[in-house]
Amino acid sequence: MAKIAPSILSADFAKLGEDVDDVQSRGIDYLHIDVMDGSFVPNISFGPAVMKSLNEIAKIPYDVHLMIQNPERYIEEFVTENTEFITVHYEACQDVAGMIETIHGFGKKAGISIKPGTPPEVLDDYLPDLDLILVMSVEPGFGGQKFMDISISKIKYYAEKRKENGYNYIIEVDGGINPENAYLVKEAGADLIVAGSAVFNAKDRTYAIKKIKE
Ligand code: DX5
Ligand code: ZN
Repeated sequence: MAKIAPSILSADFAKLGEDVDDVQSRGIDYLHIDVMDGSFVPNISFGPAVMKSLNEIAKIPYDVHLMIQNPERYIEEFVTENTEFITVHYEACQDVAGMIETIHGFGKKAGISIKPGTPPEVLDDYLPDLDLILVMSVEPGFGGQKFMDISISKIKYYAEKRKENGYNYIIEVDGGINPENAYLVKEAGADLIVAGSAVFNAKDRTYAIKKIKE
């Protein structure tokens, strides 16, 4: 059984509050907050103001995924009572260790994400300090893309490292996951699954959530 974090990127922004309220009553574990800057990725989503506008209705903690260049400039903006994880991209950081320290300094759990083309070993030095590793299974930037199975071996790599060394991070995977293929990442060792379109566009959202988790 894995946990699930539906990505609000696939919600209807014209009725974001309603959509969030709807999914949070269906057995989800986190709300995945996809922030894109049009520079690190070729798309712009929304910023901290939109996330904060959800604070009043959100009963589920935030899993913030920052797809922004030099994220150290903006960490503080995403620190709210609802924020549990703040994840930044390895490829976007000048100083990964410093970044982890900054997030911890705000009392939040720290995650690092790697893109499909980034080898898993780049995070070796940081594994003891991380609370979360986010393996991308699509090129970051858009919802609704096809799952890339290059992510499978990376999930296994981090699961193995954790077992060998007694590390504490959770392994999250993001992109193209649906009720039909979720077993692939769960078998590989993923603890937390992001799903955008597979949840928000589902005819039966409760069923989609349950299938992805179990
Ligand atoms: C991609 C985002 C993902 C994406 C997931 O850049 O980080 O969270 O929205 O959407 P689906 O599940 O539709 O691939
Ligand atoms: Zn994401």
